[in-house]
Amino acid sequence: MCGIIGYTGASPALSMVIDSLRKLEYRGYDSAGIALTGKAGEKLIVAKRAGKLSNLESALTSDHADSLSGIGHTRWATHGGPTDENAHPHISSDGKVAVIHNGIIENYIELKAELEKRGHKFSSQTDTESVAHLLSDEFNLSKDLADAMRKVCKRLRGSFTLLAISSDSPEVIVGARRNSPLVVGLGRGENFLASDVSAFIAHTKSALELGQDQVVQVSPDVVLVTDLDGKQVSAKPFEITWDAKAAERGGYTHFMLKEIFEQPKAISETLLGRFSNDSKVICSELASLNLDIDRILILACGTAYHAGLIGKYAIEQWSKIAVDVELASEFRYRKPFLTAKTLVITISQSGETMDTLMAARHAKELGAATLSICNTMGSSIARESDAVFYSHAGPEIAVASTKALLTQIVALKVIALYLAQNNKSLSSAQIAKIIAELLALPNKVEEILETVEPLRAMTRGFKDATSVLFLGRNVGYPAALEGALKLKELAYMHAEGFAGGELKHGPIALIEEGTPVIAILPPASSAISEKMLSNIQEVRARGANVIAIADASTPLDLKHVIRIPSCDELLQSILAIVPLQVFAYEMAVARGNDVDQPRNLAKSVTVE
Ligand code: AGP
Repeated sequence: MCGIIGYTGASPALSMVIDSLRKLEYRGYDSAGIALTGKAGEKLIVAKRAGKLSNLESALTSDHADSLSGIGHTRWATHGGPTDENAHPHISSDGKVAVIHNGIIENYIELKAELEKRGHKFSSQTDTESVAHLLSDEFNLSKDLADAMRKVCKRLRGSFTLLAISSDSPEVIVGARRNSPLVVGLGRGENFLASDVSAFIAHTKSALELGQDQVVQVSPDVVLVTDLDGKQVSAKPFEITWDAKAAERGGYTHFMLKEIFEQPKAISETLLGRFSNDSKVICSELASLNLDIDRILILACGTAYHAGLIGKYAIEQWSKIAVDVELASEFRYRKPFLTAKTLVITISQSGETMDTLMAARHAKELGAATLSICNTMGSSIARESDAVFYSHAGPEIAVASTKALLTQIVALKVIALYLAQNNKSLSSAQIAKIIAELLALPNKVEEILETVEPLRAMTRGFKDATSVLFLGRNVGYPAALEGALKLKELAYMHAEGFAGGELKHGPIALIEEGTPVIAILPPASSAISEKMLSNIQEVRARGANVIAIADASTPLDLKHVIRIPSCDELLQSILAIVPLQVFAYEMAVARGNDVDQPRNLAKSVTVE
């Protein structure tokens, strides 16, 4: 998720673009760049730097300080680490066209091969640079930037918000979108193109929302929207009602709620390019390791550790490889038994968690191959791993991890399927079936989020509880642990997750009249369904107030039942965790806590 801005109008474009980038920096902050036009035919001025926006600002000169149009980009890297070369804008070989991009171009490798055959030289590892050269070739043919953009978009697969400028048409900015946001800010004698309204809300609250596969051409007094065939279409106008802060959160009250609602898109982006049309699983990260493994050890902390616990079930069941999951903070201080046939997988959203980083180093010293699942390009854990599987969740601003967790679990399912494909431990038909289940997840999460209001209302009824227990079995057990962790870190409330089978070995003593117990139920067809129903009876008999999370296959005579869509049993915890996130979020709001920055916590624990 990157920050994108284009400005054309009567004010100095340099300051307009930089001001907007400051407001967009929360969307991605591992590098930033700007391109400005001069007078017709004058070279574009381009500056781009890795690191924070301030690095870019210190690199800017007064060149084109009088420029009246330009584009700017803050990057959340997906392809190619956060370096100056990989920062956007990307420039055509002749220097005449600059492009910035948010999203993932799935077919960039084949486009790059075609462009190299045409003689283009590439200077970055990004998917976006292919678009810059493609666009420049089309522009040199048609001399019409919007027409060139339409032709290029027809060649692209994946998701994109694109903005482009050319030195030949200094006042014009052209944009296009597919599965990635692009809004037009309508000013007086000036216009804006941006990934979200926070970029221009200080200047105008009148905007246009662009539809799928639409191309927009703006200059100070013109806004022209077409489809990919060049037919003029009308974009949906709207008045922005948010203030600037709310705009950064996309209108949500907190970043955490925004990120919970971003989960369908985060899962889709993480799955992009992972399955071929004939249901082959693609995992170049594992392929690069030439593995001959007989054991997998997953190391992580906190919520990422819970992802590992969930992933274990699918990896073992699908690929028949033994999996252990261990807290990184424990592993790093013991003398474990590892061999060259052990694959160590570290999981970390930030890629900077000290315990996980040190555990990864410890594993490497002991001779294991290391793969990390990271959400942050160029982070320490990513850099030090033998291979990295990036979860494309986009920046996760709230301390409480939500979309990162679901994409970590999805990444582990892809890895499990890839290993099963290699080991031939699943048939092609079985793999194809699971792929279809994975691809259906975003819509199922969306379905849950559409019914979130009754859940939020029900949660407020528990705001004065002193403790909440969570019960689950199989993949529901780590989900119970995650539900308890979320409640602890957000509501500052005692909470504990148990394996259902452990209830009678002690925890049931905690149950008294009114104790809230959240039970995560498998599909009714599961071998553990009856066991979980018995657990519910046992705690109800002792006065517990049970909240069940279940799909429609299990009839329940409970006051509180949160229904989730049905899916493969091994994928179900991905769906069950969403109501748990909402429960914890709502409890924090009801208790007046700081949702995005809970007390005593940090987004990345870079200390021991
Ligand atoms: C999760 O909500 C917490 N913020 C915390 O447990 C987090 O998952 C843990 O610190 C690991 O962080 P990482 O994924 O960045 O390594």
